[in-house]
Amino acid sequence: MADGLTTENPGTEEKEAPFSPTPGLTANRVSAHETQGQHKNKAIHIFLYKNILIFARILLDCPTMTEAALQTIVGSNDCRDALTALLKAAADQLRLSVLRILRRDTFSVQELCQILDVSQPGMSHHLKILATAGLVTTRREGSTIFYRRAHKAALPALAELQSAILASANLIALDQQAEQQLALINQARAENSKVFFEEHAGEFRSQQEQIVAYSLYGASSAELLASTQHEGALAIEIGPGEGEFLPELASRYTRVIAVDNASSMLEKSRQAAASKGLGNVEFLLADTHHAEIADNSADCVVINMVLHHVPSPADILADAAQWLRPGGVLSVTDLCPHDQSWARDACGDLWLGLNPDDLSDWAAEVGLKEGPSVYLAQKNGFRVQVRQFLKPART
Ligand SMILES: C[S@@+](CC[C@H](N)C(=O)[O-])C[C@H]1O[C@@H](n2cnc3c(N)ncnc32)[C@H](O)[C@@H]1O
Repeated sequence: MADGLTTENPGTEEKEAPFSPTPGLTANRVSAHETQGQHKNKAIHIFLYKNILIFARILLDCPTMTEAALQTIVGSNDCRDALTALLKAAADQLRLSVLRILRRDTFSVQELCQILDVSQPGMSHHLKILATAGLVTTRREGSTIFYRRAHKAALPALAELQSAILASANLIALDQQAEQQLALINQARAENSKVFFEEHAGEFRSQQEQIVAYSLYGASSAELLASTQHEGALAIEIGPGEGEFLPELASRYTRVIAVDNASSMLEKSRQAAASKGLGNVEFLLADTHHAEIADNSADCVVINMVLHHVPSPADILADAAQWLRPGGVLSVTDLCPHDQSWARDACGDLWLGLNPDDLSDWAAEVGLKEGPSVYLAQKNGFRVQVRQFLKPART
């Protein structure tokens, strides 16, 4: 159950013996004294069980769900409650739209109200049902609570059904108004981040160092990348900042492209490269979404300490995955979740760190496989994750 939220309808649990859906399994539990009422009750459960199986298979496009998995699901009262909560949560168009919107992103209640044009009490009601079912979880950042999809089902036996519900929600087309509001929110988030870097390029290093200095993660990121891929033809770095990682790439890749959407930051990395005599680095002023880079062309894409500044980290991962050649490596270094909300104003952070599971999910969604990773702790309490995701080679 997420964040202490309670079910809407507690206390309806039946007090009978655990139900087993297959006649063969029930037979040895049916005593000679069983009343006709109890017998009928079980017959109803068998009927419901069979229909749940059919609904789960047909409606949720889940033909692989095994009978054994469903037996486990409906085999205990806890499971039945969780299954009911899950099916109830999924049986509503607005809630499915919320799940669709949360596909690759995190939004506050207010933002979800704006996107779907729903009152706050109404939205809170729906979010509570989704949270009770274990479909969404919350995370507090300062005074705001953000919602995202849950990574794990309330019960392992429901994992298959839960991922089928989420996969089906991914297929929902949002209406034009919702798409427009979504774009507006993302635009505003992106603008805040861009303005911050344009205006604070001069103080960037000291601000960044209040959280984590490049020296803490730079070498680990370079080592991890070298352990998977030693050299190549093209490396792309998204958000090079002051260009500290560029020498690592310039020495091992024939060509390096540095992409940054803040001109003042790009200028800083250009100067850093010039001062170190790096002749094979090109600079591209662009948001990853508009950067003209040929698909399947890069051996590696590096994203160091950028994702917690961007409105939709999953979109950047999607752009990076597209640029990678089959067999290519995506290297991501970023903060783990923290509660230091001052970082928003002081360092232009949009997200107070990133959940490692979110990164894994977003990468998997764009076809990348989990590679090696390293987690670095530092004295001030911030933790850094150095991750790798691999684009499978063509077979
Ligand atoms: C915190 S700095 C990280 C700099 C450097 N990678 C490091 O590890 O020190 C984030 C950088 O990402 C850039 N950036 C933010 N959003 C971006 C986007 N959507 N596309 C390209 N660059 C972006 C910023 O302008 C800034 O230079």
